[in-house]
Amino acid sequence: MNGVLRIGLIGMGRIGKLHGSNLQSLVKGAEIVCAADLYLDEDKERWAKSVGIARCSRDPEDIFEDPDIDAVFICSSTDTHADFIVRAAKAGKNIFCEKPIAVNVSDINRSLRAVEKAGVKLQVGFVRRFDKSHKAVHDAAASGKIGKVYVVKVCSRDPEAPPMSYVEKSGGIFMDMMIHDFDMVRYLSGSEVTEVYAAGGCLVDSHFADYGDVDTAIVTLRFENGALGVIDNCRQAPYGYDQRVEVHGEKGCVRDENQLEDEARLATASGTLGAKPTWFFLERYNDAFVEEERAFVKACLSDAPVPVGGKDGLKAVLIAKAARKSLETGRPVRLDDPDVTSD
Ligand SMILES: NC(=O)c1ccc[n+]([C@@H]2O[C@H](COP(=O)([O-])OP(=O)(O)OC[C@H]3O[C@@H](n4cnc5c(N)ncnc54)[C@H](O)[C@@H]3O)[C@@H](O)[C@H]2O)c1
Repeated sequence: MNGVLRIGLIGMGRIGKLHGSNLQSLVKGAEIVCAADLYLDEDKERWAKSVGIARCSRDPEDIFEDPDIDAVFICSSTDTHADFIVRAAKAGKNIFCEKPIAVNVSDINRSLRAVEKAGVKLQVGFVRRFDKSHKAVHDAAASGKIGKVYVVKVCSRDPEAPPMSYVEKSGGIFMDMMIHDFDMVRYLSGSEVTEVYAAGGCLVDSHFADYGDVDTAIVTLRFENGALGVIDNCRQAPYGYDQRVEVHGEKGCVRDENQLEDEARLATASGTLGAKPTWFFLERYNDAFVEEERAFVKACLSDAPVPVGGKDGLKAVLIAKAARKSLETGRPVRLDDPDVTSD
């Protein structure tokens, strides 16, 4: 590889463009040599040119078949991920895949088998592990500074609800939104989830119900090490992207606060006033995306393990499935429930 990882980018939508721009300008040792999108248009070609990608295609096969490409970034829609992972693995490419790997267990398992058989790397896009505040909370808890972990809390609220055209294909709040938080509670607790209990409702927009979905959900969790957890998600928070995590233990508590648009605080006789949290994930996790990309490129170039792998991708999906069943049945659901572990 001569110190340079030659990458094929698949999918030039929201997240593909973000990774593509970062890889081309902020990640040392990365070079995108081809970008493919089934719905390639002038706008995508213009964008590719603007970030210095020389070759565009409508067909990801052009990437898989190119022996000069070392790795792929799979940033296309979720329903394409499993097939592209299998194809990339067969072609001997290292793989970065956006979350989730797939929404059913058989597709994830066949992806992971292909990756293992080919001996390539697979990193899954759980970007929040690379946020420096969340990582500092994790590091403090993992170092033993707060002793035995009792409670893990994650609050994740979007500033505004997505359009119904997105909701229809999203896979539902647990698979689309809370999936990041399921990974985060595993990361923060240092333990595996054994049981979940979910409650949810359509409080923001009753149309979520048309797609069998909810817009607000609370999930409580039990972990193997005895700790308890709670995740709170809402599709609407007019003050901005609300992203806070906390770990409480026998010797203390560690938590972070929202990243604000600026740090200034106005204090007058009527009270104090500060800026709102940054608007959404592109702003809040901008630096974390770069760290995530650097970690993948470094792991490929130095042949080291990736920091977030296929098993992490699978575990988060299993928790999402258990949460869905709990919401539907109104009962706690164990992670070894056959409805969770199979399709
Ligand atoms: N990590 C995160 O925080 C985060 C944030 C947003 C999206 N995502 C994930 O990234 C993926 C893409 O989401 P998005 O918001 O960028 O969607 P998007 O719709 O903006 O982009 C998807 C792109 O994939 C292309 N595409 C679809 N099928 C294809 C195929 N067969 N071959 C090649 N290209 C194809 C589409 O034309 C589109 O340009 C989803 O899996 C989503 O869950 C992750």
